[in-house]
Amino acid sequence: MPKRHVVCELKSLANPGSQGFTLKYNEGIKEIFVVRCGEAVYAYQNECPHTGVNLEWLKDQFLDLSNSYIQCATHGALFRLEDGYCLRGPCAGEYLTSVKVKLEAGQVVVFLNN
Ligand code: FES
Repeated sequence: MPKRHVVCELKSLANPGSQGFTLKYNEGIKEIFVVRCGEAVYAYQNECPHTGVNLEWLKDQFLDLSNSYIQCATHGALFRLEDGYCLRGPCAGEYLTSVKVKLEAGQVVVFLNN
C-alpha cells in the first residue's frame, strides 16, 4: 500500500513554482519535487532520464526561466509540467518518473509505493 507523505501547503509554493523534498522510503530516501501551476500540482522523482542526476540548478529551482517547463540543469532538457514529457534535449521523447500527488484541504500530499 502506498505510503502517504504530507509535504507542504499549496499556498507555500510559488505560482508557478517548484520545491524539492527528501522523503524516507523503505530503508532509504527518495528525492522528489513538486510543481505548482495555478491550483494544479504535479510531482516527479528528482532524476533526469538522461543520466539519472538531480534536475535542479539551485535549491528548489526546477523550472526554466520562463516558468513554463521543468528544466534539467546539466544539459538543459525541457519537460512538460503536466506529464514530465521531454520535449527538447538529449532525452527527448522520454518522461520523468511521476509520483502520485493530491491536494487535501490545501495540503500537498504525495504517495510512494512501499
Ligand atoms: S542529465 Fe539531464 S539532460 Fe543530461
